[in-house]
Amino acid sequence: MATSLTTSPAEAAAHLRRGELVAFPTETVYGLGADALQPDAVRRIFEAKGRPADNPLIVHVCRRKQIKQVAARVPPAGQQLLNEFVPGPLTLILPKHDHLPSVVTAGLETVGVRIPRLSRTQSFLEACGTPVPAPSANQSGRPSPTSWEAVEDDLGGRIDCILRGGRTDAGVESTVVDCTTDPVAVLRPGAIPVESLRQVLGTVQGASPEGEAAPRSPGTRHRHYAPSARVRLVDTPSEVAPGEDHAYVGLDAPAQACALGRVHVEEDVQAYAHDLFHIFRTCDEKEIEVIYAQTVSAEGMGRALNDRLRRAAAR
Ligand code: TXA
Ligand code: MG
Repeated sequence: MATSLTTSPAEAAAHLRRGELVAFPTETVYGLGADALQPDAVRRIFEAKGRPADNPLIVHVCRRKQIKQVAARVPPAGQQLLNEFVPGPLTLILPKHDHLPSVVTAGLETVGVRIPRLSRTQSFLEACGTPVPAPSANQSGRPSPTSWEAVEDDLGGRIDCILRGGRTDAGVESTVVDCTTDPVAVLRPGAIPVESLRQVLGTVQGASPEGEAAPRSPGTRHRHYAPSARVRLVDTPSEVAPGEDHAYVGLDAPAQACALGRVHVEEDVQAYAHDLFHIFRTCDEKEIEVIYAQTVSAEGMGRALNDRLRRAAAR
């Protein structure tokens, strides 16, 4: 299959309405979408990515009133989060609407809903005129794509169209919050820090730095976000072993930079998160064997960053 590239949201949306698979940019990572109301098209998302069928998809819409088409209701805490953070990098888990095909939610009675903030995404969703379930547009298990080129590398020839955009802003995925429980629970830390959620709601479960009280999202059970290189976590760059096929990424500069194949010193946690998946992919292209990655303090975006680092390092 030839994958067409376009910069036109209307053209990309026309592919999707025909039952085809379309990758598109968002402010977090690129997504791989299909028409929620065409179950065969949604099934092809799982095939193209090699995604386990038990891992539910996040449904993307462009307007709040469309939430009624996919969710049965929005509990009060969910409404508060909607008012404060949406559009933006937040996914609300809500009771599912009966009409939404069950392939979208992998048979669950709940549905993840997100309204992205990026204007190109909004134009695309508007032109689609239908809810768009979309996981990250990577081969299952690989780092999420933060550029259209990364989508093409992973899925070129397996999907119908890529809506081109720039490098994504956040570089890590949306924060997933289960709004069907009281208090609400963070299932996946992401681009909106739990501290911001707490400022609005007071109590939020499952996001302590030490571990999670809440049950995880199905998709967070597996090893994830991993490059082919081995990822080793370090507290400080002094733990890095020199080697031409070794790389380092972190906030502190290593003393022995010249003895490493690649060194990425990031300005702050935001920049680190923005660059991480891109660096993973670059290291694979350069045939790096071991990536030493410095963990950061578990606050703000640091929580999502550490989560992605730990998963990439898990074997
Ligand atoms: O930023 C993002 O969220 C990106 C962009 C494309 O929007 N999407 C994304 O989708 O990261 P994906 O499929 O790679 O990750 C979705 C996560 C998975 O861990 C999945 O298990 C969880 O959300 N999830 C989806 N629906 C759920 C549900 N009904 N209940 C619990 N977890 C759910
Ligand atoms: Mg993903």
